[in-house]
Amino acid sequence: MPLRCAYTFAVLSMLVACGDKDVGADSAQPEPVSGLGTCEYRNAFTSAPECKDYTGDAWTLESAAQDCETGIVGGAGTFTEDGICDLNPILGVCTTSSDEGLEYSYQLGGDDASGCSGAELACTTFAGGVFEEAGVCMSGEAEDGHTVFIWPYETCEQPLEDEPEGEGPDGDVCTWNLISGCTEEGRDFRDYGSCDVVFTNRPYYSVDPYGNAADDDPRLSDDAYLEELSWVTEQVKSCACVCCHSSAAADGPAIWGVEDEVLWPEQMSDTAVGMFAGYIDSSALGAFPPEENNGFDREQTAMPSTDPERMVAFWLDEMDRRGLSPDDLADEPPVGQDILEQVYYDLPDCGSGEGVDAEGIIRWTDDFDARYAYILEEGSDNPGIPPNFDMPEGVIWRVDVPHDGQPFSSGITYGKLPETSFQVFPDDGSAPPELVPGKRYHLYVLYDLVLPIGRCVFEMPEAESNDGCSTAGSPVDSVWLLLAGGLLMRRRRERAAPEAP
Ligand code: HEC
Repeated sequence: MPLRCAYTFAVLSMLVACGDKDVGADSAQPEPVSGLGTCEYRNAFTSAPECKDYTGDAWTLESAAQDCETGIVGGAGTFTEDGICDLNPILGVCTTSSDEGLEYSYQLGGDDASGCSGAELACTTFAGGVFEEAGVCMSGEAEDGHTVFIWPYETCEQPLEDEPEGEGPDGDVCTWNLISGCTEEGRDFRDYGSCDVVFTNRPYYSVDPYGNAADDDPRLSDDAYLEELSWVTEQVKSCACVCCHSSAAADGPAIWGVEDEVLWPEQMSDTAVGMFAGYIDSSALGAFPPEENNGFDREQTAMPSTDPERMVAFWLDEMDRRGLSPDDLADEPPVGQDILEQVYYDLPDCGSGEGVDAEGIIRWTDDFDARYAYILEEGSDNPGIPPNFDMPEGVIWRVDVPHDGQPFSSGITYGKLPETSFQVFPDDGSAPPELVPGKRYHLYVLYDLVLPIGRCVFEMPEAESNDGCSTAGSPVDSVWLLLAGGLLMRRRRERAAPEAP
């Protein structure tokens, strides 16, 4: 029961296929359906049904069935031989092409127009496919109503009455509101952090467990085991994982959950155990340095822990108990690989109508409005997810729109903040340096986290007329930048933000 890509971030999980990336968006659309087979599953983001058709010549019944079981985000799908996808209603069809004969297409079920943009971007960005609108998406009702990623922020609160003083300023307990965030050891994330914020990082829905322990399981009378398990359970409860991995979650746990079920590790797949034992790399999902996350480390195991060695040892025992060897997991790809592929993706040169012109006007060709825009030095990595991939070295200018703000359209000016946006870098609020004519830079613009709508390398043109105007740093701009910079620092550092920013 392998897991690939199942554990990922919200926007990313709109993505539907984890497989072959060597697909080009510009090739001709393949003939409708080969009839080899279909894979039915559910979109991890919307929970809407989706169906994948294996259209390429190189698919075999075996490889298609295996892809269906392992290659779909959001959990295993159901493979049917000779089927043809026939979902109704649908938002559209995503068709991919492949040099290796591994083409596929998939139908995205649903009738909610707010899903159209996300469906299209997930198709073009991750599957490298061509999106063909259907149903409500054809009617022009598409609106930007997707779940917007709420940028992580830290909250600091006085401890609950029966709990000891916190380690933060004035005895506060400080907690990052992010899926990889944890409150102080021994406390419950739900008392100090916001699961509502975490639900924007990755969708929550309940999924049946892979298995459950028998009532007479010998571990139930093994005190040493139970003691270790109760420590692991406490660690889960201190971290944002508990928002969804608990029987107290609104619709029940997502596969595995602490609280009601004593032997909850029994509920997981072998792959999950391998991730926690440190055999499957999940660093792409992001991690805070432990000193910024109440000592919780997530470098060695997917499960944040204040004592990673002890955590890994627990899951190594679980591997032993299941008779799993490292070899069994050797073929499992790193979790979240798709996110890293975006980070290391080689940007093409900007086409016409893209990039920055002599007046400093920034343009991208997609029809979508943006929530994040970056200008970076040539050769930089691309921006990825927080907390540790969103500010690659080489960022020159970055503006963000808060989650409840209006995104901005193409045509913003370098160094000038679009309305509703704020400057994240330079982080002291100062004006970014002027772009040097003749020098090459990266433009990276995002619809929302991990969904780029403009990404290319441009050469800064020579200024056309020499009237002394610079592209950035007029006194008015600087005031704005300073203000925004101040706001940002508050967002990042404020130790007592009572509500979402
Ligand atoms: C916002 C909800 C949410 C949060 C928070 C969350 N998860 Fe999950 N997780 C899910 C859902 C939903 C699934 C099931 C995906 C599916 O199969 O459709 C899942 C599946 C998993 C799996 C796969 C389980 C298996 O048996 O294969 C692992 C491992 C996992 N999560 C680990 C974590 C860890 C560790 C954390 C905390 C750092 C965490 N999750 C936080 C929602 C969440």
